Amino acid sequence: MSTTTSTRFSDLVGCRLPLQLAAMGGVGTAELAEAVSAAGGLGMVPSGVASAGECGVNFLMPFAPGPDGIHEVAKTARVVEFFYGDPDRNLVRAAHRGGALAGWQVGAADEARAAEEAGCDYIVAQGIEAGGHVRGHQLLAEVLAEVRVAVRVPVVAAGGVASARRFAEVMAMGADAVRVGTRFVTSPESGAHPDYVAALLAADGDDTVLTGWFNEGWPDAPHRVLRSALERARDSGWHATVPPYRGVERSPGDMAMYAGQGVGDVIASLPAREVVADLVGLL
Ligand SMILES: Cc1cc2nc3c(=O)[nH]c(=O)nc-3n(C[C@H](O)[C@H](O)[C@H](O)COP(=O)(O)O)c2cc1C
Repeated sequence: MSTTTSTRFSDLVGCRLPLQLAAMGGVGTAELAEAVSAAGGLGMVPSGVASAGECGVNFLMPFAPGPDGIHEVAKTARVVEFFYGDPDRNLVRAAHRGGALAGWQVGAADEARAAEEAGCDYIVAQGIEAGGHVRGHQLLAEVLAEVRVAVRVPVVAAGGVASARRFAEVMAMGADAVRVGTRFVTSPESGAHPDYVAALLAADGDDTVLTGWFNEGWPDAPHRVLRSALERARDSGWHATVPPYRGVERSPGDMAMYAGQGVGDVIASLPAREVVADLVGLL
């Protein structure tokens, strides 16, 4: 597909479409990120996963290195992004010094303001519909509206978007781009375990739940998962944060099957290129 839909975000990061892949710890691969970038979006990898350059790298603050480590990564990445910690000017500076743009995913307007003051080039506003770790307490429509008036830099919207219709709705609310995680977990390029993919394809939005259960090494950070996985983990006592990845040497049914509330729209496992084309199809 060669359509171009230019927004402040796509102009900033240099892609054709206002779509960002969510970096996904445990299942986000270079292959997935590169496929999204090749299709016109911004591919993202979790820190520690090497990618071929035209992608961004995401750091989870509880596990992030100091400025020197950020600076090294920023030398080879287009975008360096942070999540789940107070915006930190020194880390943003380190990203800029390395030649990368800097972003911060936030859950509230005051956090967005702090990220902009710390020097970020864009903000991701995350609603509680999101799969994975959830930072704030507001629905996407609310947090997006508040963040948009709080900051001047481009705002990406995240949480529960898995269909072309919802994607277009969120863009119409004034987002400069939409960030999508759960739907891409089911693409063959992701590193997700087949049982996790099958569970996502079978689930609908009511089958997710916000919990603090999968908290080993990362306490006090609510996350949205499939209820079925949580129920099994309560039986087995499994608390690890890593989602079921391909090749894991245990039965994955009680592992953290992160899923957003848009999971009901995820009904087929399609290559990332086709998912991108589908999501932007109504723009
Ligand atoms: C499996 C999975 C892993 C995730 N890991 C990360 C991560 O490492 N860093 C991060 O910033 N966000 C992570 N997230 C959250 C996303 O950034 C984003 O907010 C979320 O995927 C948006 O909601 P959606 O999943 O409904 O599209 C993850 C989400 C999922 C589903």
